[in-house]
Amino acid sequence: MVRDFFSVSGVRAAEGIDVGSGPNLYPALAMLPLCETVTLYEYSDSNIEWLHGQKEHYSRPWDAFWDVLAGDPLYEAVPDPRDELRRRARIVQGSVFELPEARWDIGTMFFVAESLSSDKDEFRAALDSFLRCLKPGAPFAAAFMENSTGYAVGDTAFPAVAIETKDVAQCLGSAASSIHIDRIAMDDKPLREGYSGMILAWGRIMERGKD
Ligand SMILES: C[S@@+](CC[C@H](N)C(=O)[O-])C[C@H]1O[C@@H](n2cnc3c(N)ncnc32)[C@H](O)[C@@H]1O
Repeated sequence: MVRDFFSVSGVRAAEGIDVGSGPNLYPALAMLPLCETVTLYEYSDSNIEWLHGQKEHYSRPWDAFWDVLAGDPLYEAVPDPRDELRRRARIVQGSVFELPEARWDIGTMFFVAESLSSDKDEFRAALDSFLRCLKPGAPFAAAFMENSTGYAVGDTAFPAVAIETKDVAQCLGSAASSIHIDRIAMDDKPLREGYSGMILAWGRIMERGKD
């Protein structure tokens, strides 16, 4: 869905940003043919280190993701995505709350705003900050765990805010237009306990101060 939206967006030679990349390259790969640079913006030291390693030569599991993207001719035309990611990616460490305003032409943020705190106001602030870092007219895609109760990695508990489609719609409503929100049900095959599905949203940033 993200590929199909980006591929007809008309954006080319753009500056893109993926916020909270973590150990995930497919949002960046989804922007690759449209971008001269893709900023991988991440908070944690260990993920920054991982991203530096992957930028040099991303590992083979990502080929399966590229194969899905390459079902669209714009992506298929990229001769060597590994080489292009190495050339175009910029890795920057920072917090979503410190992003500059109206800086990037296209953006993605996957599973970050609802997954960094258990406070709904922080969810809204993080999503607002992501939307504000994009220029008016910029296409974006964002994904969220629905009704997440957080998750554990080893002995460490990671927080989450239990959000639903209406929370995403409410936040996007004041900043974006042409909004699409899709709920991806995971009822029969959940990735883990403690959430009820995934939410994918895409649209374009509105001119500031307009409805
Ligand atoms: C659940 S992971 C999602 C990672 C990746 N986007 C994905 O789709 O798999 C949440 C990510 O947000 C990052 N993060 C946490 N707090 C952040 C902050 N204040 N600013 C930017 N990223 C943050 C974490 O380090 C982690 O990489």
